[in-house]
Amino acid sequence: MIANPVIITAVLLLVQPGALAFLILSRNSMTHQEITASAILQKTAEVCKARAEQQGQNFVTPNPLTAESLAAACSSPQSARNFRSAISEVANRNAWVDARRFGVSEFHVDDESILEGRDVITRGVDVVKANIQQQNFETARERLGETMHTLQDFYSHSNWIELGNRSPFTSLIRPDVPIDNIADRNTPTCRSCVDDNCTGNILESIITERKLTTGYTSQFNPFKPNGKCSHGGAFDLTSRFEPTGGINKDGISSEHGDLHRQAAGVAVSATSDLLEDIRVSAGDNDFLRLMGISQTFNVLCIVIDTSESMADDIVEVRRITSFIIDSKKGTTDEPSDYILVPFNDPDFGPLTRTTDAEEFKRQINAISPAGGGTDNAEMSLSGLWLALAGAPPRSEIFVFTDAEPKDVELRSTVLALIESTKSTVNFLLTNARSTRRRLSNPLNQIYQDLADASGGQAIEVTKDTLSQATSIVEDTSSSALVKLFFAVRSPAKAENFSILVDSSVTNLTIYITGISPAFTITSPSGLSQSSTEANGTLGTIQTVGNFQTVRPNNQNPTGLWQISVSSTQPYSVKVTGQSVIDFSFDVVEVFLIPHPGYTVLASRPQTTAGGNISVVLSVTGGDSVKLTEAAAVETMGTETIVGSLEELGNGEYLVTFGTAPRGSFGIRVTGQSNSTGSSQISFQRYSSTQLRTSNVSVTAVANETWTPGTTFSLPFTVETSQSGGSFSITVRNNRLYNMTFPSSLVIGNRGRANGTVTLTAPSDTPSGTDVTLTIVATDPGASDFNYAVLRLSVVAGVGPAMSLSLSLWFIMIVSFLNQILHL
Ligand SMILES: *[C@@H]1O[C@H](CO)[C@@H](O)[C@H](O)[C@H]1NC(C)=O
Ligand SMILES: *[C@@H]1O[C@H](CO)[C@@H](O)[C@H](O)[C@H]1NC(C)=O
Ligand SMILES: *[C@@H]1O[C@H](CO)[C@@H](O)[C@H](O)[C@H]1NC(C)=O
Ligand SMILES: *[C@@H]1O[C@H](CO)[C@@H](O)[C@H](O)[C@H]1NC(C)=O
Ligand SMILES: *[C@@H]1O[C@H](CO)[C@@H](O)[C@H](O)[C@H]1NC(C)=O
Ligand SMILES: *[C@@H]1O[C@H](CO)[C@@H](O)[C@H](O)[C@H]1NC(C)=O
Ligand SMILES: *[C@@H]1O[C@H](CO)[C@@H](O)[C@H](O)[C@H]1NC(C)=O
Ligand SMILES: *[C@@H]1O[C@H](CO)[C@@H](O)[C@H](O)[C@H]1NC(C)=O
Ligand SMILES: *[C@@H]1O[C@H](CO)[C@@H](O)[C@H](O)[C@H]1NC(C)=O
Ligand SMILES: *[C@@H]1O[C@H](CO)[C@@H](O)[C@H](O)[C@H]1NC(C)=O
Repeated sequence: MIANPVIITAVLLLVQPGALAFLILSRNSMTHQEITASAILQKTAEVCKARAEQQGQNFVTPNPLTAESLAAACSSPQSARNFRSAISEVANRNAWVDARRFGVSEFHVDDESILEGRDVITRGVDVVKANIQQQNFETARERLGETMHTLQDFYSHSNWIELGNRSPFTSLIRPDVPIDNIADRNTPTCRSCVDDNCTGNILESIITERKLTTGYTSQFNPFKPNGKCSHGGAFDLTSRFEPTGGINKDGISSEHGDLHRQAAGVAVSATSDLLEDIRVSAGDNDFLRLMGISQTFNVLCIVIDTSESMADDIVEVRRITSFIIDSKKGTTDEPSDYILVPFNDPDFGPLTRTTDAEEFKRQINAISPAGGGTDNAEMSLSGLWLALAGAPPRSEIFVFTDAEPKDVELRSTVLALIESTKSTVNFLLTNARSTRRRLSNPLNQIYQDLADASGGQAIEVTKDTLSQATSIVEDTSSSALVKLFFAVRSPAKAENFSILVDSSVTNLTIYITGISPAFTITSPSGLSQSSTEANGTLGTIQTVGNFQTVRPNNQNPTGLWQISVSSTQPYSVKVTGQSVIDFSFDVVEVFLIPHPGYTVLASRPQTTAGGNISVVLSVTGGDSVKLTEAAAVETMGTETIVGSLEELGNGEYLVTFGTAPRGSFGIRVTGQSNSTGSSQISFQRYSSTQLRTSNVSVTAVANETWTPGTTFSLPFTVETSQSGGSFSITVRNNRLYNMTFPSSLVIGNRGRANGTVTLTAPSDTPSGTDVTLTIVATDPGASDFNYAVLRLSVVAGVGPAMSLSLSLWFIMIVSFLNQILHL
C-alpha cells in the first residue's frame, strides 16, 4: 500500500529497469489506488441506496461492485464513464503524494508525526468541503486524493494494527479530539529484528501501555532517535541501524507484511469514514456530483465574440442553444452544466457556469453585440483559455468568432490546457473567404492548429450559412460520444483511410473539414458514395463552407469503412459515433522506488535519451472489454508506434512507448468485447487530444492552498535536455490575480534554473475558490515548449496556526460546557 517518502531521481529510474512489478504488486498487495477505489465504491453505494429509499425506490447493491454496475444501480448508467474518471482522479492524486511529497514526514505519518499528519488530514478535509461548496469538483477531487493518502498511510506506518485495533482511529479526522498517547521522543519503541524476522519487534511496554508510534525513515540520513522503530524496506537507511528492521505494512513482503491485509482493510474503513464526513457536509447530491454521478453530465460550453460585427452570429447561437436545451430536456443528453465566456477587445470573461438552463438562456439573450476595437482582432484566446480552465476535463467547447486573435501570445498557454484537460475545441468562424476562391482564410490558421491539437474542427462558413454548421454543436452534446478516427493532413496528401466500426456503435457520423476535398466513402458492404452526391446510396452529405458531414443511412454500420480523400488543401477526417465502449488516458511518470508506482503528469512527456513514455488508459464498457493493442499514431502522417500493454486491473492499463512519433500524435486503442450478445466484437477508438513530447521540463511543487488576502509563493524549475540559452516564461491564472514571475530564465546546456511565481488572492476571495495556473517555458528558438498546470485552492482559515487555535477554542468550549453540566 503505501510509500516511503523518498526522492525519486531520473538517475535512479534509469539504473532500475523493469517497471513490471505493477502486476505483481496489484495481485498480492493492495495499493493506495485500490484502497481509494474500494472506499469510494462502498460509500457511493450507500449514498445511492439512501437516495433511492428516500424516493421510495428499491435499491440492490450490485455484486461485483464496479463503476459500471453501481452507476447503473444508481439509475444513472450513462454516468459510468464520469464516475470511473472521478475515481481515477482521486486515486491518481493519492498516488501523486508519494512522488511529489517525498521526504515530508507529515504527509506519510512517518517519524512519529501523528499530530502533524492529523493536521494535514483535517485541513485537507476543510479544503475539500470549501471547494465542493463553490462547486469546484475537479479541485475538490485533487485535494481529496491528497488527504486520503496521509490517512491511509497511518494504518501502514503506525503500530495501530499491532495494538490489535481492527477499526479506524477516528481522532484522525477530528481536529477537536486530543491525541495524547503518542510515545514521546525519548521513549524507545522497537528492538532489532532477528535476521529478517520482524515479528514482535515492537517493545511489549509500548503494546501494554497502548502507546502510538510510527516508523522513522530516510533515504539519506541513517539517524533516528534512540530505540525508535524504522519504516523498513530497501531504501530506508535508518532500518539498517539499531534497532534494525521495520514495522511497515505497505505490501505483503514488507517487514510487517503479515498484517498488510488487516492494515489495508482498516484503511478502507477509515477512508470510507472520511467520505461520510464529507457527504454529511456536502449533502447527497453534491457528494454524487463529486463522484461524477448525475442524471446527466454533458457540459454545454460556449465562448463567444460579442463585438459589433457578431450580431447575426449571436442570434444563431441563441437559436441553437435554445434548440439543444429544449430538445434534450429530460433525456440523458440534457446538459448538466452551462458555461458561457464572452470576449471582445480589450475585454474577456467573466466565465459563468450554471446548472439552470433558463438562466443560461437569459445570459445568452442578454449578450448585446458592441465594441470590439478598431482593428478586426479580438481576445479570443483569452476567452478560450478561461473556458478551458473553468470547464470540467474532456468538455466539448465551441468558440464563435469572425476575427483573428489579438492575443496570439497565448497560443502555447492554450495548448497547455487543451493537452492537460483533454477538452475538445471546435471553432465556428464566420470570416470565410468567398467560396469561389476556394481558399481557407489564413487568419484562421491558429484556430486550425488549436482545433487539430484538441481533436476538434475549425469550421469556416459565411454569416449566411452559419446555421447549417451548428448541427455540430447538437451532434457533440451526446452523453456517449466516442471517436472512431481522427487524422489531419497538412500539407494535403491523397490517402485512403480505414475505419473499424463495431456493433456497439450507433449514429456513425463522418466529418471532413477542408476546402473542397474530393472523397469517396465505401461501406463494409461495398456501397460507395462520392463527395459530389449529396444524397446517395450510402446516406447524405451536407456541405457548408469547409465542413462536410456524412450521415450514413444504414442503422447497422458494422465493419471496415474506407474513406479515400484527395485534396489540394489541408484537410482533417474525424469519425464519431455513440457507444458505451470508450477510453480515457493520462500521461504518467513511472517511479520504482521504494515501490513501483506512477504519478499523472500535467505536462508534455519528455524525450530524454533511452527514456520511455508511459500512459495509463482507463477503459469503460464493462468487465468483458479488454484491450489488445495501444499505439501512438502520428496526427499528420502514418507513423505508428505500438506500445507494450500491461493490464493493471479494474479496466486500467499501463502502456509503455520506447519512443514517440516526431510530431503530434494521438492514442489509438484496439480491443475486444464479449458484452453485446454472444459474439465477440473487435473495436477501435482514438483519443481526441493530440500529444507532443518536449525536450524541456517544467516542475512546480507547492502546498496548493493559501488564504484570501495573502500572497502565495510557488517555486518552479525549468530544465532542458538540449542546448541552453534564454527560455521565455509565461504564467497565467484564470482568476486574473496579480502575479509576479520572471519573464525569462537563462539555462545552461542540459541545465536547469529556478524561478518563483507569486500571486495574491484579494481579501474578499470566497473560501473554496480554485485557481488554474499554467507556467509555460519556451526554448530560445521558440520551436519547443513545455508547461506545468496546477489547480490551487484559496480557503479561509486553513493555516496551521488557525486550525490549532480553532481546535483549542473548541476544547475550551467543550470543557466549559462539561463544567456547567457537572454543576
Ligand atoms: C522502457 O520500457 C521497457 C519495456 O516496458 C523496459 O524493458 C525498459 O527497461 C524501460 N526503460 C527504462 C529506461 O525505463
Ligand atoms: C519470527 O519470530 C517470531 C517471534 O519471535 C516467531 O514466533 C516466528 O516463528 C518467527 N518466524 C519465522 C519464520 O522464523
Ligand atoms: C486508394 O485506393 C484506391 C482503390 O483501391 C487506389 O486506386 C488508390 O491508388 C489508393 N490511393 C492511395 C493514395 O493510396
Ligand atoms: C442517434 O440515434 C438515435 C436512435 O438510433 C436517434 O434517435 C437519435 O436521433 C440519433 N441522434 C443523432 C444526433 O442523430
Ligand atoms: C434523399 O433521397 C431519398 C430518396 O430519394 C429521399 O427520400 C430523401 O428525402 C433525400 N434526403 C435528402 C436529405 O435530401
Ligand atoms: C470472449 O470470449 C472468448 C471465447 O469465449 C474468450 O476466449 C475471450 O477471452 C473473451 N474475451 C473477453 C474480453 O472476455
Ligand atoms: C529534442 O531533441 C532532439 C535531439 O536534438 C530532436 O531531434 C527533437 O526534435 C527535439 N524535440 C523537440 C520537441 O524539439
Ligand atoms: C508548505 O507548508 C509547510 C508548512 O505548512 C512549510 O513548512 C513548507 O515550506 C511549505 N512548502 C512549500 C513548497 O511552500
Ligand atoms: C493588482 O494590483 C493593483 C496595484 O497594486 C491593484 O490596484 C489591483 O486592485 C490589484 N488587482 C487584484 C485583482 O488584486
Ligand atoms: C533549484 O531549487 C532546488 C530546490 O527547490 C535546489 O535543490 C536547486 O539547487 C536549485 N537550483 C538552482 C540552479 O538554483
